[in-house]
Amino acid sequence: MSRIVLGVTGGVAAYKAALLLRLFTEAGHDVRVVPTESALEFVGAPTWEALSGNPVQTGVFENVPEVPHVKLGQTADLVVVAPATANTLARAAHGLADDLLTNTLLTARCPVVMAPAMHTEMWEHPATVANVATLRERGVLVIEPDSGRLTGADTGPGRLPDPEAIHAVCLQVLQGRPRDLAGQHVVVSAGGTREFLDPVRFLGNRSSGRQGIALAEAALARGASVTLVAANVSVDVPAGAEVVRVVTTSELRDAMLKAAESADAVVMAAAPADFRPVSFADAKIKKQPDGVAPSIELTENPDILVELVRTRSGRRPVIVGFAAETGDANGSVLDHARAKMARKGCDLLVVNDVGSERTFGQPDNEVTILTAEGSEHPVARAAKSEIAHAIWDAVVQRVE
Ligand code: CTP
Repeated sequence: MSRIVLGVTGGVAAYKAALLLRLFTEAGHDVRVVPTESALEFVGAPTWEALSGNPVQTGVFENVPEVPHVKLGQTADLVVVAPATANTLARAAHGLADDLLTNTLLTARCPVVMAPAMHTEMWEHPATVANVATLRERGVLVIEPDSGRLTGADTGPGRLPDPEAIHAVCLQVLQGRPRDLAGQHVVVSAGGTREFLDPVRFLGNRSSGRQGIALAEAALARGASVTLVAANVSVDVPAGAEVVRVVTTSELRDAMLKAAESADAVVMAAAPADFRPVSFADAKIKKQPDGVAPSIELTENPDILVELVRTRSGRRPVIVGFAAETGDANGSVLDHARAKMARKGCDLLVVNDVGSERTFGQPDNEVTILTAEGSEHPVARAAKSEIAHAIWDAVVQRVE
C-alpha cells in the first residue's frame, strides 16, 4: 500500500481523475485527493471524498492543526496531478504556493507525475513548453498528452490520456526504480516493419513490439524523456512517451535518424524487414489463369543500426542493438552475436535466442547483453519489463 496524493486541477478532464482514483483505491493504495478551487467547478468534493474515503480540502487554512500543507507532501510516496492545467504547470514550474496542491508539490520529496490536459494552443504555447521543460529538468515525470478530440469540436494534442495509461505510469514509478535517466533523452524503436507488394499485401515479421514498449516504460519510470518509434505494434504504447508511428523500414530509418540527433541513448529493439520488394504494384496482384505464381524480386533495406553508429558524433548517443539469433552448424548463438556486434559497431548488443517459440509475443524473455569491450551479462528469464531494466542498467553506466 502506498500513500498517493492525487492533485486534480480545473479542466473538463477532471472526471477522468475519478476513474484514476478508483484504480488506485482498488489496488489498495491510500489516496488523498487535493483538488484546486477550479477543479471543484467540474467535479465536487463529495465525489472525491466518497471515492477516496478521505477528507478533501483545497486551501491551507482549513484543518490547520494537522498542518496539511506540509504533512501531505512529506508523507506521500507519490504525487500525481491529473489533469494538470497550463496554470498549474506554470505555478509548479515557478514554485508558487498559493493553495494546498502547490504547497504539497513544494514539500514533496517523492516522485511527482503530472498529466497535462488543455487545448492544443495552450499546450504548444512557448510559456507552457518552457514550464514543462523546467519541470522535467527537475525530475517531474510530465506525461505527454494524447492527440485527439478535445472538449469542443477541435482536435489535436492536449487530451488527458486514459486513466489506465496514467495508472500504468504511476505503478512503474511506485516500483521505486532509481531515477538515473532523469534529464536524458532516449529513443526506442519497437515492432516490425512492413514492406508492401501491392495495396493489400506486405512482407512482415512476428515482432509484437512488447520488448521495445517495455523499454520505453522502464525508461520513463527512470526519469528519461522518451521517444518511441513504433512500427505496427500490437500492444498499447505507454502514456508519457512521444510516439512516432511508422510502417516501413524506410519510415523507421528516417524517424530514428531524426530522433537520434538529440538523443543520449538509442535502442533498436524493432525488427526492420531486411528486404523489400523491388517494385510496388499500384493495383492488387491477380492470380494468373495458368496457375503460375508471381515471383517477387527483393532488394536489401538499409541497415538502420549501422547508419546510426556511422552518423553519430563522438560517443553520443549510446547505441544498443538487438540480435535475434539461432545457433547452427557455423556457430552458437553467442558466436553469431559477437560477429554481428563487430559488424554493426554498436555499444551494447542484446542477444535473443529465437530458436524456440519463447520470444515473439511472449511476456517474458531471456537475453545476454554483450558490451563493445567484450564482456557478457546473461539476464535470466524474466518479464520483459525486468529485461528492460537490466538493459537500462547497462546503458546508464555509459551515459553518466
Ligand atoms: N537492424 C536495423 N536495420 C535493419 C535490420 C536490422 O537497424 N535493416 C537492427 C535491428 O533493429 C537489431 C539489429 O539490427 O537491433 C540486429 O537485427 P537482426 O535482425 O538480428 O540482424 P540482421 O542485421 O538482420 O542480421 P541477420 O538477419 O543477417 O542475422
